[in-house]
Amino acid sequence: MNFWKTLKSPFTVLAPMEGVTDVVFRQIITEIGKPDVLFTEFTSCDGLVSKGKARVAEHLRFFTNEQPIVAQIWGVNPENFYHSAKYAASLGFSGIDINMGCPDRSIMTDGACAALINQPAIAKEIIHATKRGAQGLPVSVKTRIGLREEQIEEWIGFLLKQDIAALSIHLRTVKELSKVPARWELMANVLSLRKKLVKETVIIGNGDILSLAEVTEKFSKYECEGYMIGTGIFTNPWLFNTSVKLADVTVDARLDLYTRHIKLFNETWGDSKNPALLKKFCKTYIQNFPDAVALREKIMGTKTIPELLRVISSYRESLT
Ligand SMILES: Cc1cc2nc3c(=O)[nH]c(=O)nc-3n(C[C@H](O)[C@H](O)[C@H](O)COP(=O)(O)O)c2cc1C
Repeated sequence: MNFWKTLKSPFTVLAPMEGVTDVVFRQIITEIGKPDVLFTEFTSCDGLVSKGKARVAEHLRFFTNEQPIVAQIWGVNPENFYHSAKYAASLGFSGIDINMGCPDRSIMTDGACAALINQPAIAKEIIHATKRGAQGLPVSVKTRIGLREEQIEEWIGFLLKQDIAALSIHLRTVKELSKVPARWELMANVLSLRKKLVKETVIIGNGDILSLAEVTEKFSKYECEGYMIGTGIFTNPWLFNTSVKLADVTVDARLDLYTRHIKLFNETWGDSKNPALLKKFCKTYIQNFPDAVALREKIMGTKTIPELLRVISSYRESLT
């Protein structure tokens, strides 16, 4: 079933973010304000067919309350995409997404992710192999508007011709990284190209969205079906909840949520992941209240999860 077609426009998506949107953070987001669609972090197809599969497959852990959730995979070998898509389908994902946008140099040197923008023949084989492995699940692509300059006609046109179910477009070139504002004005070109090619692919725009109000505003201006939000979640984890105003979130609620995140991380990953990863979220939860800066400094100085929890609870005691 193509779940993308069942979503009401404008729908929201939490962007895949390696080292951020693991099953733990997605559980937090699912509890406090869930977007319409979730993605896993990008997961290596080579890894999924290697001896180290068990470790790599941890990227694909999810709970049923996250549905619809899409497994994002990356690589360069079509056969590995076939096996990875087949495996992801067996886990019960709602869709499979191919990463054709990550600008990481070492990954691009191997010809994967954004390097595929210059390699349509391989990209075509990869899409084909993924569709074969996906067992009827919808296959989508996440990409950028071009390598060094915008290549809407050539690259986005090529992807639309592959009859993929959905296409997420980070509206910047690879060269631009995240250094310039996302070029939303180009969405009009994408949509007219889809019309010209008479394609059914669902289009999701991505870049610089910070609130649901901006989703509404962008929908009225640009009219693509979906709106993907990445780093905006760092400033407001309650972003997808229409009934929570960030200014009204109490210090207690913020500390409760960070504590919950830390404990869930510990239960889920034990010693297998570096607890320093939790510090990435420090500013997300610890902001907009007196002493936030001082508390963040103390948290940054911790080395273990028990230490981190102690710093938070002694701050709470100091408030009473
Ligand atoms: C820390 C981090 C990790 C990311 N990891 C991925 C990833 O695994 N797969 C992917 O397609 N994009 C990844 N991205 C890109 C985001 O999905 C998104 O396209 C980008 O942040 C732009 O959206 P935004 O302006 O809403 O943040 C990552 C971005 C960040 C900041």
